[in-house]
Amino acid sequence: MIRDIVIYPDKRLKLISKEVTLFDNKLHQLLDDMYDTMINKNGVGLAAIQIGADVRALIINLPPEDEEHVKQLKEDTLEIINPVFVSKDGSCKHQEGCLSIPGIYEDIERAEHVVVEYQNRYGEKQILDNHEFLAIAVQHEVDHLNGKVFIEKLSFIKRKKFEKEWKKRFK
Ligand code: CO
Repeated sequence: MIRDIVIYPDKRLKLISKEVTLFDNKLHQLLDDMYDTMINKNGVGLAAIQIGADVRALIINLPPEDEEHVKQLKEDTLEIINPVFVSKDGSCKHQEGCLSIPGIYEDIERAEHVVVEYQNRYGEKQILDNHEFLAIAVQHEVDHLNGKVFIEKLSFIKRKKFEKEWKKRFK
């Protein structure tokens, strides 16, 4: 089911999401709704809080770069529950966007390589080791679980410019 996306500066985006302890139907329904909502907005990643659920769950589905008409299949969706960074190193800059701040794209600095421990929808321990765009996407989404959005990483000047433009949009 497609759900409403929580839009910046909604206060819920500042919540620290809670650890998932039950890997039940309710969690699976939430993950399914997150997928439907993300695909509906042509997104590549979504954290649970972006549809109003303050639990440590996120999904990522990066379409392959070499295909013209890409399909983001459900079975290719990475479902990451209770993620913990085991290591982070290097640094790189990539353009990021966010379904909670639609239409805004900014270059953001992140670690280049990450190793993440997490659980899948059945509570099974998994490990992700990545140094490509997926590493960036995971860091962006984990920030959501910690009440942070990507524009908080902008310089003071750029942040002010963004806030001004954003306010104008809602007049
Ligand atoms: Co986001």
